[in-house]
Amino acid sequence: MEKELLRITVNNQYYELYVKPKTLLVEVLRNHLDLSGTKRGCDSASCGLCTVILNGTAVKSCSILALQAEGAEILTVEGLADGSRLHPIQKAFLDYGAFQCGFCTSGMLMSAKAFLDENQNPTPEEIKKGIHGNLCRCTGYSSILRAIKAAAEDIDREKKA
Ligand code: FES
Ligand code: FES
Repeated sequence: MEKELLRITVNNQYYELYVKPKTLLVEVLRNHLDLSGTKRGCDSASCGLCTVILNGTAVKSCSILALQAEGAEILTVEGLADGSRLHPIQKAFLDYGAFQCGFCTSGMLMSAKAFLDENQNPTPEEIKKGIHGNLCRCTGYSSILRAIKAAAEDIDREKKA
């Protein structure tokens, strides 16, 4: 199958590469660009491990063909920190021990970021809905929910400072 040109910006870096029409976005990120922070699990849009932010929206990169992302801006977990400064969501996950094996964490962080970008003062119920597409087999979710709430408060404080 003939390869086609894909132009994407990932974590503020512009890439041009040739991909097969059936190549998934998650494959481009992990296999072509070496951004293995994005994990791969179910490959059927169910677990949320592969979540990245595409043009501001959290998407499951296993359910998108790479060529559908032509011209898009993508943020992966590798682009979340500002240099050595962790994003408030990353910091809160550390502070609240919101992970155990960590396999779900990058997808969870990206869903939380997209959610908090839209909703700066969420209720616990809204946070639950915000990450409903991300599964975690280890934590029981309560530490994750607490971390996202704390991150929202932290981001709010930073804005007011
Ligand atoms: S690997 Fe994409 S949702 Fe599970
Ligand atoms: S920390 Fe292990 S799956 Fe979430």
